[in-house]
Amino acid sequence: MTTLLVTGGTGKLGRPTVATLRSAGHDVRVLSRREGEGHVFGDLRTGVGIRDAVDGVDTVLHLATRNGRGDVALARTLLDECRVAGIRHLIYTSIVGVDRIPLGYYREKLAIEQLLASSGLPHTILRATQFHELVERLFSVQRHLPVVFAPKFSFQPIATGDIATRLAELAVAEAAGRVPDIGGPEQLPASDLARQWEQAASVRRKITPISLPGRIFAGYAAGHNLVPGPAYGTQTFADFLAERHGVRP
Ligand SMILES: NC(=O)c1ccc[n+]([C@@H]2O[C@H](COP(=O)([O-])OP(=O)(O)OC[C@H]3O[C@@H](n4cnc5c(N)ncnc54)[C@H](OP(=O)(O)O)[C@@H]3O)[C@@H](O)[C@H]2O)c1
Repeated sequence: MTTLLVTGGTGKLGRPTVATLRSAGHDVRVLSRREGEGHVFGDLRTGVGIRDAVDGVDTVLHLATRNGRGDVALARTLLDECRVAGIRHLIYTSIVGVDRIPLGYYREKLAIEQLLASSGLPHTILRATQFHELVERLFSVQRHLPVVFAPKFSFQPIATGDIATRLAELAVAEAAGRVPDIGGPEQLPASDLARQWEQAASVRRKITPISLPGRIFAGYAAGHNLVPGPAYGTQTFADFLAERHGVRP
């Protein structure tokens, strides 16, 4: 039996990942600042608890994030302790296009990828496209506005459960450096996804496509957040909305 530590195991991606790994029979520790079953306490910002958390672990899946408010420092703390503990494999989840879309959060994620590449630690980096939850949130935060703004570019949203499946495969494989990016089953204009969300959430608004100046928007508009070729994910945004709202768009 392999002992795994999942940082961010209480988060959106972490929860299905922990469930998938446990159902495959692994011994899984969840690093968290909160109490919970199977949790080990650890705070990557202060470093408290991290040495004990990685002790005796074979593989670490690093999913914890402060959403761009100091993620490099969190990763550095984890890497240092993984080195001390002599862990066998460190797996990191990144985002498709971090090297081509100049968003502050993406710059941090790219810096972490580079940190890993030069760390000498056996590691695997998996980039994925936007989660269904994130795309839904882009629209749902606007539910009190008279219109729903949809950026004039496409997303390829993916289910966290599909990413968890891939992470569970990687967790039993050898460290492979950067592995092929994964995305959801459909690439759709944001306005189409907004329409699906409206139908499922029973919200009636005019959908207004918008363009913004600048290199960030241009990076998305150029499709740098998409994965060409066959899709990995199987759950569509419509499937996700149907599950969440009980209404299929
Ligand atoms: N959102 C997307 O569309 C997307 C797409 C591709 C890849 N990703 C990547 O997927 C990963 C997971 O994202 P997510 O959206 O699932 O995250 P999330 O739901 O925001 O959860 C954040 C997690 O980070 C942990 N965390 C935060 N600060 C911490 C600290 N100081 N010490 C220890 N743990 C800390 C939290 O644990 P506690 O609160 O329990 O301590 C929580 O489990 C991230 O690397 C993200 O960049 C996201």
